[in-house]
Amino acid sequence: IGTPEFNDLDGVRSCLQCDRTIRYMHEDFLSSVKGITVQDQMDLKGIIEHAYTTYQDTSMQLRGVIDPTTLYQVQTEYQSEFRRHWQEHRTDPIQWDMIKIVEKGRRILRKHLERFVAEGLCPNKCGLLFQSVMNCSTCQYGLFTCLSARPTRHCGVYQLEGEEGGQVVLDCFLSWHSLIVGQADYHYFWKPEARNVSEDGFEVVVVTEDSKIVLNQLSVGEQGVYRCLLLDKHGTELSRMYFMLTVTPLPASTTWPVPPLPPLPTLDFRPTRLHRDTLIIILALLTVLSISASLAIIVGFSCSKTAKWQKKERKRKKQKEDI
Ligand SMILES: *[C@@H]1O[C@H](CO)[C@@H](O)[C@H](O)[C@H]1NC(C)=O
Ligand SMILES: *[C@@H]1O[C@H](CO)[C@@H](O)[C@H](O)[C@H]1NC(C)=O
Repeated sequence: IGTPEFNDLDGVRSCLQCDRTIRYMHEDFLSSVKGITVQDQMDLKGIIEHAYTTYQDTSMQLRGVIDPTTLYQVQTEYQSEFRRHWQEHRTDPIQWDMIKIVEKGRRILRKHLERFVAEGLCPNKCGLLFQSVMNCSTCQYGLFTCLSARPTRHCGVYQLEGEEGGQVVLDCFLSWHSLIVGQADYHYFWKPEARNVSEDGFEVVVVTEDSKIVLNQLSVGEQGVYRCLLLDKHGTELSRMYFMLTVTPLPASTTWPVPPLPPLPTLDFRPTRLHRDTLIIILALLTVLSISASLAIIVGFSCSKTAKWQKKERKRKKQKEDI
């Protein structure tokens, strides 16, 4: 985006030179330094040119790109070191002082580039990021492709639980998304089956610039798989995340069909039936027994009566015979 000017010095470029302030600082110093010979001037210019070559090597060893923040940090630190250096030291020959300070500039550049490569460049642990950085060879901004080690754009599956009537927040924001604000949209999809994470059967819920969506007044029918895709303006998928939502129905809920009750164990009822059957049998037996007993008594009674009567008759007959 920037249009760098490289009229001065040669075509060697490095991250540090992309900052105009540094180039002007060196030029200003060369033109303002007093009491030196033309040869000294030439030497100093040669030292600065050589320094730019070492800066370029340093940049190339560290991916060859820089972001504006890191470039600014390098520039301010080197600038203040440069000024302090010429205030504190002034020895002969001046070439030594120049070599020392430009070498310090290289170390400052290296320190900041190492931190940038470790933390700032490609901060995405998952997904695909086209990071806007400055190419140190051209001093032009371009997109650096940061493809994470993971084979897909997959950035995780998260379990979410909600209660019927309550709310849940789905948020697929990742810190590196802040580098592409306004260049991509979040696409939320949904499908009912939570068990099958195949890509079929998803329907669009919402497309939004905001990373999160809030589901209010949850109903059990809203549970399932929510898929969040971050797509850039060309439809390229940058990141993908899944949320498995389960909604717990309220105890008093009648909106959800009650599942059929499992068959109750018959064992619970058998003793009662047995008991009832036994009772009937016992009652029947008792009835039979009591009837038999009654009959027996009646029969027994009548038998004894007959016997007594026969005895009496025999006695009477005997008495008659005796008379
Ligand atoms: C920077 O630009 C040069 C020249 O166009 C190119 O060869 C090089 O690959 C670029 N570097 C990066 C890291 O993109
Ligand atoms: C998931 O569903 C799709 C289509 O409905 C089906 O083709 C696939 O076999 C299912 N996968 C599993 C693991 O059930």
